[in-house]
Amino acid sequence: MADEKVTLSVFTADVGGFVGHVSSHPEVLDTAKERLYTAGTKGKISDFHILRCGDDINLVITHLRGTDDREIHALAWDTFLACRETAEELKLYGAKRGMLEDFTGNIKCMGPGAAEIEFAERTSEPVLVFLSNKTSVGSWNLALYKIFADPFNTSGLVSDAAMLNGFTFRLLDIREERTVEISTPEELHILLALAGSTSRYIITSVSRRSDGEIAAAISSEKYDVLAGKIGARCEPAMLVRCQSGFPAVGEVMEAFTLPYLVSGWMRYSHIGPLMPVPFYEANPTRFDGPPRVISAGFQISGSRLIGPHDMFDDPSFDEARRLANKSTEYLRRHGPFQPHRLPEGEAEYSLLPIILDKIKDRFRKV
Ligand code: F6R
Ligand code: MG
Repeated sequence: MADEKVTLSVFTADVGGFVGHVSSHPEVLDTAKERLYTAGTKGKISDFHILRCGDDINLVITHLRGTDDREIHALAWDTFLACRETAEELKLYGAKRGMLEDFTGNIKCMGPGAAEIEFAERTSEPVLVFLSNKTSVGSWNLALYKIFADPFNTSGLVSDAAMLNGFTFRLLDIREERTVEISTPEELHILLALAGSTSRYIITSVSRRSDGEIAAAISSEKYDVLAGKIGARCEPAMLVRCQSGFPAVGEVMEAFTLPYLVSGWMRYSHIGPLMPVPFYEANPTRFDGPPRVISAGFQISGSRLIGPHDMFDDPSFDEARRLANKSTEYLRRHGPFQPHRLPEGEAEYSLLPIILDKIKDRFRKV
């Protein structure tokens, strides 16, 4: 498959939680496996792997059909529908909330998320898939900045010739619905000025400036079933290519040694530390959190997924987890007070309009 390009597609959806919003049920994951196994035997896809983070299930698929392909999106959609049926049989929690009813061609318009990259396989192709739960779409901004623009994190930026010219970041302004490309190192301060506003500017992809090769992508556009529009902000996935002219695996992982604060957590209405955990610890139970990230490492070989390796299953992340627990303890003491609770307008759920309406006649002009 010398010049043939492989596509790595990762689809995420919440088809019903076990218990509450904490985890997924093994029978739901088995349903996904059966569906994709059958698709594999029919030659529709090259390979697949099923993962989960919290109550979101994730379909990791390789194929040769490019990004935004209708058939691949339909396959992911049908798989999630079958998973939802299993979830409904078990009366799992909130099974009907994450997806619309009728498929329209692209899964991003239906509730689930999709992160996809297409590339010509290198001699060896290490890729990291990051999955999150109780987080929001701007949650990858800080990590992507560190991985691709901070030499204190990524030593290759100053020692690998292929990275010396830096990277181009594509950002989505979710308020104005427009995109912009910013190139580092020259425009580093502009990048930080925008990407630091994680509730408005979302880094959606990164490419290498020397040759335009795609380096990273996140799932950014997602239909918000409750609000009835594109713009769901929850549970984004991120794909990062590593080594030989891209940041090393260890440089990508290094960005998660700080459990930095993200929006999400309980009722998607709080800030909390992003805790890096192994697969088996991706069960957010304390105040429905704190927010989690898992990382699945794969080598892609002839479009096959070799892996996953559970990347955060490493004691060198124990300190990050400890700090996440300490800051959880500190933040939780603030109860419903900002900035632990998100400001009005940023919180996904808020009773405030109803409360204000109840007491509207009691306000006096000053
Ligand atoms: C946020 C989340 C949970 C729920 C919370 C209330 O990611 O899924 O924190 O928001 O458990 O859930 P409901 O409204 O379903 O009772
Ligand atoms: Mg969820």
